[in-house]
Amino acid sequence: MDKKYDYKVTAAGRINIIGEHIDYCGGKVFPAALSLNNAIYIRPNGTDKINLKWTTLPDEVTLEIDKLESYKNLKYGNYQAGAALAWKRAGHKVLGCDMLYDCTVPFGSGLSSSAAIEVSTIVALATIACERLDLKEIALLAQQAEREFAGVNCGIMDQYASANGKKNHALILDCKAVTHEYVPLNLGDYALVIINCNKPHNLVESKYNERRAETETALEILKKVCDISCLADLTPAQFEKHKNLLGGKVRERAEHVVYECNRVKLAADAMKRGDLVLLGKLLNESHASLRDKYEVTGKELDALAAAAQSHPDCIGSRMTGAGFGGCTISLVKRSGLERFKTAVAREYRDKTGYDCKIYDAEIADGVTVTKL
Ligand code: GLA
Repeated sequence: MDKKYDYKVTAAGRINIIGEHIDYCGGKVFPAALSLNNAIYIRPNGTDKINLKWTTLPDEVTLEIDKLESYKNLKYGNYQAGAALAWKRAGHKVLGCDMLYDCTVPFGSGLSSSAAIEVSTIVALATIACERLDLKEIALLAQQAEREFAGVNCGIMDQYASANGKKNHALILDCKAVTHEYVPLNLGDYALVIINCNKPHNLVESKYNERRAETETALEILKKVCDISCLADLTPAQFEKHKNLLGGKVRERAEHVVYECNRVKLAADAMKRGDLVLLGKLLNESHASLRDKYEVTGKELDALAAAAQSHPDCIGSRMTGAGFGGCTISLVKRSGLERFKTAVAREYRDKTGYDCKIYDAEIADGVTVTKL
């Protein structure tokens, strides 16, 4: 694009196929990086300032490298400041530079635009400083930025998938060990369709943090009777045996976590064996649990998932990401794709009054760096 810049760096948005709200409980999750990404064009500028511009905004923001802590409340530029600060605090070099942002991950969609921005910012800063890219470290630092600068006490899934995603593969990410395995995304006659319910979402941060605290309460209680270090260590049998120790909502949250962890195992095996019908069934079960036990869906996501699930060409559908708005993913027969899209969009509009948005996205590499 712009020859004035030295590098183009990208980091991806993501979907999560299954394993929702269990990354912060030490569970295994099953995300994949998307071709929707955040691109940064960058060049060093020889100053002690980072100048930020956007392709889609008139704003320009300057960050002073020795005052990065002070930018938490910026409307634009806070994620960048948080990412640069985390990188700097970890002992890395942050050089003055000009950065132009071009993000195709829709904001507030549950597809991790913030992780894409944080990860690409660190990769860009590392690239102009000629530092080695350790993608696990970068993901962990990007997660710190999200926690401190966006106020979401998030798990590692989004930043890790954004950094480590691989074209046409999903990751089985072990959030306790922070390691991953790639699984080829062989969907045969089916396609994954991503649909945004387009409900303006709010209070996501506070509700997210509240759910997380509820799982921590469950862990504290169950640790006293089971030898576990995180909720994901608990087997369904152990949960059933001890669930009466937990109060109403906390019990339901823990039930979701335990059975969702189990579904990830089954889903990964089903994908490896090519049993897509079973994978679809697990997606439906995951959505029901997020709706009834974890209570993070909302009526728009429920209407969208229900419209998809009832279509004859769809074998499974669920919300993806934090919830409270955002996107669903659906497994749909390729031969019926157009019918499916038309019917679901119509039914969703009739039920909720919102127009949904369907994305054309591929499963892509997490990070790319190109010398311009
Ligand atoms: C958000 C968080 C992730 C994860 C998901 C829910 O995307 O950033 O860490 O907890 O919600 O699975």
